[in-house]
Amino acid sequence: MTLRAIITGASSGIGLALAQELDRRGWELALLARRTELLTEAVATLKRATAVTCDVTNAVAVADAVRRAETELGGPFDLAVANAGIGYPTHASKFNAEAAGEIFRVNVIGMINLFSAVVPSMIERRSGRFAGIASLAGHRGLPTASAYSSSKAAMQTFLEASRIELAPYGVGVTIVNPGFIVTAMTAKNRFRMPFLMKVDRAARVIADGLERGKRVIEFPRPMSIATRLMRHLPDALYDAIMVKRT
Ligand SMILES: NC(=O)c1ccc[n+]([C@@H]2O[C@H](COP(=O)([O-])OP(=O)(O)OC[C@H]3O[C@@H](n4cnc5c(N)ncnc54)[C@H](OP(=O)(O)O)[C@@H]3O)[C@@H](O)[C@H]2O)c1
Repeated sequence: MTLRAIITGASSGIGLALAQELDRRGWELALLARRTELLTEAVATLKRATAVTCDVTNAVAVADAVRRAETELGGPFDLAVANAGIGYPTHASKFNAEAAGEIFRVNVIGMINLFSAVVPSMIERRSGRFAGIASLAGHRGLPTASAYSSSKAAMQTFLEASRIELAPYGVGVTIVNPGFIVTAMTAKNRFRMPFLMKVDRAARVIADGLERGKRVIEFPRPMSIATRLMRHLPDALYDAIMVKRT
């Protein structure tokens, strides 16, 4: 039986690499993002895939995109991956509410819009998996990334709560927390990115974890350990370490 997945933010980076990896593993795919030409190019290289142009911040558009993709591929999704995301620095001393709000609209509301469009059918069928690409940045408040790291923390806790609620219905939920991955998002970073990982490798790790039904997929391992240790540092010590890096 062929499995079907929908991935948001599949026009570039992690979303595109994950689509390519799942394609190699025999999945049928729906690729969703705003840049139609990139989606069309990507779909042309995949065995069985469809492209749907859509802005994840628009709930009606996401629901419509899911229905159109289901019709195109011939059935509902076994896997939905909320990957679409944006990130840029935000500064508390020169705060821009519009810029910070946009990070939440894409990363958090975008995920919720996909969740609302696919999960009822998974519950009905008593099967399926919903995954969100959060980040290791969600484990603690990172200075100059208040909006980004809090949006990823919101994703993590939303997914964790949903995982517990959906388990009795046979629907799995996976939190994906990558460290630094080579994509357009990190290309603009001017600081040293420890354990920077290539995107095709990240896609393999994510696909392996999803196919195994893991609750949490977190990598690279040294970054995962470091951020989890940071999470348990006393607040005063965390502040003292981070203030030197800001
Ligand atoms: N790279 C990293 O180091 C890293 C680490 C941890 C987590 N992440 C997370 O991984 C995810 C993918 O990021 P990436 O690194 O692969 O960056 P990327 O290459 O910039 O990809 C972002 C994707 O999101 C889509 N997108 C953005 N806004 C959208 C919107 N309003 N509606 C629909 N799609 C939208 C973009 O497509 P369009 O512009 O065509 O719409 C693009 O396909 C993000 O959630 C990010 O936070 C990345």
